[in-house]
Amino acid sequence: WVMMVTAQTPTNIAVIKYWGKRDETLILPVNDSISVTLDPAHLCTTTTVAVSPTFQQDRMWLNGKEISLSGGRFQSCLREIRSRACDVEDKKKGIKISKEDWGKLHLHIASYNNFPTAAGLASSAAGLACFVYSLGKLMNLKEDESQLSAIARQGSGSACRSLYGGFVKWIMGKEENGSDSVAVQLADERHWDDLVIIIAVVSSRQKETSSTSGMRETVETSLLLQHRAKEIVPKRILQMEEAIRNRDFASFSQLTCNDSNQFHAVCLDTSPPIFYMNDTSHRIISIIEKWNRSEESPQVAYTFDAGPNAVLIARNRKAATHLIQRLLYYFPPNSDDLNSYIIGDKSIA
Ligand code: DP6
Repeated sequence: WVMMVTAQTPTNIAVIKYWGKRDETLILPVNDSISVTLDPAHLCTTTTVAVSPTFQQDRMWLNGKEISLSGGRFQSCLREIRSRACDVEDKKKGIKISKEDWGKLHLHIASYNNFPTAAGLASSAAGLACFVYSLGKLMNLKEDESQLSAIARQGSGSACRSLYGGFVKWIMGKEENGSDSVAVQLADERHWDDLVIIIAVVSSRQKETSSTSGMRETVETSLLLQHRAKEIVPKRILQMEEAIRNRDFASFSQLTCNDSNQFHAVCLDTSPPIFYMNDTSHRIISIIEKWNRSEESPQVAYTFDAGPNAVLIARNRKAATHLIQRLLYYFPPNSDDLNSYIIGDKSIA
C-alpha cells in the first residue's frame, strides 16, 4: 500500500526584512519581520508526500530531479515532525499506522516550484513550508499553524511566514530553545485586497551569495546590522503593523521601500560587501521613486530580496496598470534588462 498527501504553499515577500541569525542551528533571527503572502496561483510550491512499507529509504525530488535529503535543515524538520507523529488510519484501504511505526517507515517526497528556484524569489520559503505542512498532514500532527511555523523555521527562516495567508509577522522570540520564535497572522487574506503585486524578473539565474551565507557574513562583520536590529526594526515593526491595520498605503510604501534599502545597505556594509541588486534594479527604484514623488501620494512600493528581481506592490489595479505601462516604456519587450513579469495578487480568501 501507499498513502499520499498533496499540499500547496504560497511564497511570501518580506516588507520588513529578516536578515541575520542569533542562532544558526535553530534559525533564530536578530529581529522580527513582516511579510505579505502571495496568491498561490502565481508563486507556489506543490508537494506530494508518500509513505509505503516498500520504500527502502527517505528520498526527495525537486522539479523532477532527485536531491539529497541529508542536509541538516531537512533532517531537523523531519526529526521534529516524526517526533510529533500520531496514529493514522485509512479504513477504506485498511491501512493503520501507529505512532511508533512512523520511525520505521520511509518517505518519498516530490516537490515542484512554479517559479525559478533560488533566484531571490523566496523559493525556499514556499518549499520548506510545504515540506513541513504536507508531512504534518500525512503524519496527522495535532500542532496548529504557529507551532508548525516553528518547525518550518528550522528549515528556512522565511518559511515560517508561509504557513499563513494575508499579512504575517515572525516574532523573533527570546527563548534559547526557539519555542517562542513563531509566525502569527496579522491580518487575513480578505484584508486590504486592493493591493496588486508585480514581480519584475530581472534575472532568473541562481543568486551568487545564498541568503544563509550572506547573512552569516553580515552578522560577523556589519556594525550597521546591530544598529538596525536594535534601534530601527522594533519601531518599524510597530509602524508597519499600524499601516497594515489602517490600509495606509503612504506609510506602508515608505516603510517597505526604506526597509528594503536598509537591508541592501547592510549587505553593502558587510565585509566583503554583498551586491544583490544590479543596474536594472537601481533603475527600477529611480523610476518608482520619481513617479511616487510626482503624484499626490505614492502609487507603488518596491522591495528586493537576496537577488536583483523587483517585487512591486501597487496600491490598486489602476496603479498596477500604470506601472506595467511604465515598465514597458522603460524596458521595451526586446530589452535585455527585464526577462519577464510575474503578475500576482496578495493571497486571496
Ligand atoms: C532577504 O529564509 O532564505 O528574503 O533562514 O538561512 O534559509 P535562511 O534564509 P532565508 O532568508 C530570507 C532573507 C530575505 C528576507 C526575508 O525574507 O525576510
